[in-house]
Amino acid sequence: MTRVLVLNGPNLGRLGVREPEIYGSASMADLRRSGAAWGEALDLEVEVRQTDDESELVGWLHEAVDARAHVVLNPAAFTHYSYAVRDAAAQVTTSGLLLVEVHLSNPATRESFRHHSVVGAVATGTVAGFGFDSYRLALEAVAARLAA
Ligand code: DQA
Repeated sequence: MTRVLVLNGPNLGRLGVREPEIYGSASMADLRRSGAAWGEALDLEVEVRQTDDESELVGWLHEAVDARAHVVLNPAAFTHYSYAVRDAAAQVTTSGLLLVEVHLSNPATRESFRHHSVVGAVATGTVAGFGFDSYRLALEAVAARLAA
């Protein structure tokens, strides 16, 4: 079965308690459960991970390349400044794998420092602003692209 790693960056382990008016009341554990269910429906083997550590996230992106796994990535704050995450994400897409950047909120409507993504230019595409549905839509996009 086609593998998809759903990778999440810093502070997303605090989902449910962190600024729920922006990020919602559901937790990372809820996302793990939803991810598994969406994967089952789309015939994808979905694994949801979260880390606050930049080097761990870079390592997971390398792992995706080596394992030929597609990636759904919420880089969280790394979105806006991590060239290390950007360079690792580029290795995913240049090796012919899909990488969908996702955000729960719509960064374009928020503080100006969130308006720029250093990852977006190397992603296959981006889904933002739909809460947990951003992840579902990203997985549907992966499944649709693979079926095309
Ligand atoms: C986020 C948006 C980022 O600007 C922020 O730093 C996050 C979460 C989102 O999912 O909306 O941590 O990536």
